[in-house]
Amino acid sequence: MPATVLIGAQWGDEGKGKITDILAQKSQVVVRSQGGNNAGHTVEANGVVYKLHLLPSGILNPETLCIIGNGVVIDPKSLIDEINQMSKHGISTANLKIDARAHVIMPYHIKLDGLFEHLRGKGEIGTTKRGIGPCYCDKAERSGIRMFDLINKHTFERKLKENLAVKNKILQFIYNEPPLDEKDILGEYAQYASILAPYVADTTVMVYDAIKSGKDVLFEGAQGTLLDLDLGTYPYVTSSHPISGGACTGAGIGPTLIDDCVGIAKSYTTRVGKGPFPTELFDEVGDTIREKGSEFGTTTGRPRRCGWLDAVILKYSVRTSGLTKIVINKLDTLSGIGNIKICTAYKKDNEIITDFPADPTQLELCTPVYEELEGWDEDISGVKTFDELPDAAKKYIKRIEQICSVPVWMIGVGPRRDQNIIVRGD
Ligand code: GDP
Ligand code: IMO
Ligand code: MG
Repeated sequence: MPATVLIGAQWGDEGKGKITDILAQKSQVVVRSQGGNNAGHTVEANGVVYKLHLLPSGILNPETLCIIGNGVVIDPKSLIDEINQMSKHGISTANLKIDARAHVIMPYHIKLDGLFEHLRGKGEIGTTKRGIGPCYCDKAERSGIRMFDLINKHTFERKLKENLAVKNKILQFIYNEPPLDEKDILGEYAQYASILAPYVADTTVMVYDAIKSGKDVLFEGAQGTLLDLDLGTYPYVTSSHPISGGACTGAGIGPTLIDDCVGIAKSYTTRVGKGPFPTELFDEVGDTIREKGSEFGTTTGRPRRCGWLDAVILKYSVRTSGLTKIVINKLDTLSGIGNIKICTAYKKDNEIITDFPADPTQLELCTPVYEELEGWDEDISGVKTFDELPDAAKKYIKRIEQICSVPVWMIGVGPRRDQNIIVRGD
């Protein structure tokens, strides 16, 4: 699979962690290129459930080089907690590298994330409150602190002083909050710097060399297409680029080096946080999907909003990320749910819309146009091949391929490594 980009094709939580872990067993390098610890990637292996936020999901394979690229924002405390958690499970992070250019989440970013949300009131985005947006703001504003600065005592002191001069004014005079103490932060972050320094490198060189020498390199996307800062349901999005293009800027490589783009989707749709969601279900079916699929956030524990599969969204992902194949996870969750619906278009007034609308306020006015398919009752969580699936499940998958004009590569029938059906290829 030389250089493969794996992205979330919906609103995140599609099971990217599980698929990355599986593919990582055949990859020499796994790279996270955007987002931060807003991500929550679940990997179930050897009877243990791992919740990964910043560590690439290849970390369970001791031979795999795991890279946190320049496009990621890093909360050092959260990363160190994760490294320690792994160590408790006997998993080494010796093969972890962090790009020197990655930006650092500071205490004021976390504080301001919560305060901005409070100020937005009813218009809140429903962020994970991990400081992601404010950290990317500073990056764009060019006042951010990078890993390179964190491990350089004098630069860090200078940049912290400069930043606090502004942030403390905002905290005090706009939000009526006490200022943050420079000495406290210096002491805390000096400790983080000494722990993380050995991991810091120019990872763009490592990624390039790995691809050029023919190694299998996997780019593990975080979030999903509709949370993309440009192409998602703005402003209800995250502050990075989860589409496949984000892997280029976030890992420092050119698009010609990428061979394959794989989209991960669920057999239905979920969303956590605010914003439009045309196929959302407010009835018993939605509750059943939430319960059966354990649809509660990996990072914040919030119940996820659930709805039918939206093929307009999948087609949008195929187009904006150039997807060559897709994975449909959680097909097992739909067993016994009755007839199944796929949204094939939207209707607004008397107009039929087949392309995902650029304006999210228009999306709010859209109602889904559904195609109804027969469901199945069999438990499919132990099924190993496509042929063994109930006919109705096969028809559902084939219909998705037809509508989205993209082959389904794998099907997930459970959270474990061995609960996946390879439909075609290896
Ligand atoms: P990610 O953020 O895309 O990595 O996804 P999350 O880990 O946040 O959420 C996916 C959830 O679904 C996790 O709890 C996984 O263990 C679980 N999961 C993944 N694939 C399947 C599947 O095929 N069937 C079932 N039942 N659960 C799955
Ligand atoms: P993974 O990688 C689902 C959502 C938040 C909120 C919006 C902005 O596990 O799929 P942020 O904290 O990023 O500023 O929040 O984005 N969000 C996610 N939703 N899965 C994720 O990651 C998400 N990361 C952020 O809920 O709506
Ligand atoms: Mg998740």
